[in-house]
Amino acid sequence: MEKKLIMCLSIVMCWLVVTAVDAIETPRYTVIRSESDFQIRLYSESTWMSAPVLPATSFDNSTKTGFHRLYEYIHGDNLSSSKLAFTAPVLTSMPSSGDGYVVRMYLSARFQGKPPPPNQELKLQVEKWKPQCMAVRTFSGFATDDNINKEIEALINSVNRRGEDGRSSGTIQDKGSYTIAQYNGSSHNTGRVNEVWIQVSGLFSEGCPPSQ
Ligand SMILES: *[C@@H]1O[C@H](CO)[C@@H](O)[C@H](O)[C@H]1NC(C)=O
Ligand SMILES: *[C@@H]1O[C@H](CO)[C@@H](O)[C@H](O)[C@H]1NC(C)=O
Ligand SMILES: *[C@@H]1O[C@H](CO)[C@@H](O)[C@H](O)[C@H]1NC(C)=O
Repeated sequence: MEKKLIMCLSIVMCWLVVTAVDAIETPRYTVIRSESDFQIRLYSESTWMSAPVLPATSFDNSTKTGFHRLYEYIHGDNLSSSKLAFTAPVLTSMPSSGDGYVVRMYLSARFQGKPPPPNQELKLQVEKWKPQCMAVRTFSGFATDDNINKEIEALINSVNRRGEDGRSSGTIQDKGSYTIAQYNGSSHNTGRVNEVWIQVSGLFSEGCPPSQ
């Protein structure tokens, strides 16, 4: 384990090496609306391994710290060395309470029902997400403290604006709560895909579940 950690000091790079080889599992969704600069997606029920990061520092630091713990988990640190497949994206969420970030990794369909329990020291939690609708804006480059706020603002403005056909794009329940989804390892300098996700409600007739 020690040696592996040293080799993987740039952990996100290891993630890249693995993700380059296999087809990567991602959470399932259907697009229920596509506007010029964002989508509304209905995500199916899903299970995530979640790493709360306290105290709250920066987005960059919290993502690194949380991802490190998830990385150890999927490399068998569940006390019996079972290895899990990498998935994408890695999520970093800021709850509006301001209580620190939560970094999450989607659990492969194989483990949706019963993921291997993580080593307690990693302080990870299994989370079940009910189906939910997300407004999603895509952006390129590296997601960092320097650019995410601009992307979040842009998504909020887009959702609040009426669609091209005059329809509402739903209601943002909690403007202080957002998620950044990152799909690529850190050694990719170009062709990077990131997203901002913000939960929306009020699109009941289009298939979104009532707000929870
Ligand atoms: C992020 O981590 C670096 C290195 O550990 C540290 O120097 C820096 O102060 C941290 N930044 C924040 C905002 O916590
Ligand atoms: C680790 O994961 C394996 C594979 O799912 C499981 O059989 C085992 O019980 C887990 N270890 C612990 C200590 O829970
Ligand atoms: C980054 O991830 C996205 C989504 O999985 C993929 O389409 C894209 O090709 C990746 N970019 C690189 C440079 O691998």
